[in-house]
Amino acid sequence: MHAFKNLDYLSPLRKQPVLSVHIVCLGNICRSPIANAVLLDAAKDLTTPKVKVDSSGTGAWHVGQDAAEYSKQVWQEAGYEYEHIAKQFKSDFFQKHDLILAMDLSNRSNLLKFAQSESDKNKIIMFTSFDPGKSQIDPDGKDGNLLSVPDPYGGSIEQFQSVLKIIEQAATGFVTWVRS
Ligand code: 4NP
Repeated sequence: MHAFKNLDYLSPLRKQPVLSVHIVCLGNICRSPIANAVLLDAAKDLTTPKVKVDSSGTGAWHVGQDAAEYSKQVWQEAGYEYEHIAKQFKSDFFQKHDLILAMDLSNRSNLLKFAQSESDKNKIIMFTSFDPGKSQIDPDGKDGNLLSVPDPYGGSIEQFQSVLKIIEQAATGFVTWVRS
């Protein structure tokens, strides 16, 4: 059972014909591209709803670029097929997507600043809240940081592999939630 505070908004999404998910990190070259690749694959056989997946970063530094080399390497070695071009998050994405999934608490607080209404805020969820092992963690509580996917930018391949594992657990949980 998830500890989502906005179940009235979230639960009906699973009955829509299309569920549009947008994943956000800081640069859109390390974590959210991996999450994009993994969630696309995890959700590919769902039909009701059909899940659309997209991603961006709150920062503009890498717009137009491919994903970080180690990000691509870890998702390709794990068998995911995905092509990426980095984008920056824009406020009108709140209108275009049903869920805005944050990779860490700092991304979440940036997104909350972009939100212009309660309806926008309802769409902002931590990506890892869908991991059954983390679903009880309150992002605003003392253990909130356990929901953050660590930023691997400039780090070792092992850090990127660890990010992939965290993301895979949450993506599996997301599909379980959609099917439930
Ligand atoms: P990401 O990682 O948010 O997972 O894509 C980063 C990428 C770039 C930067 C920071 C984090 N940067 O400062 O350029």
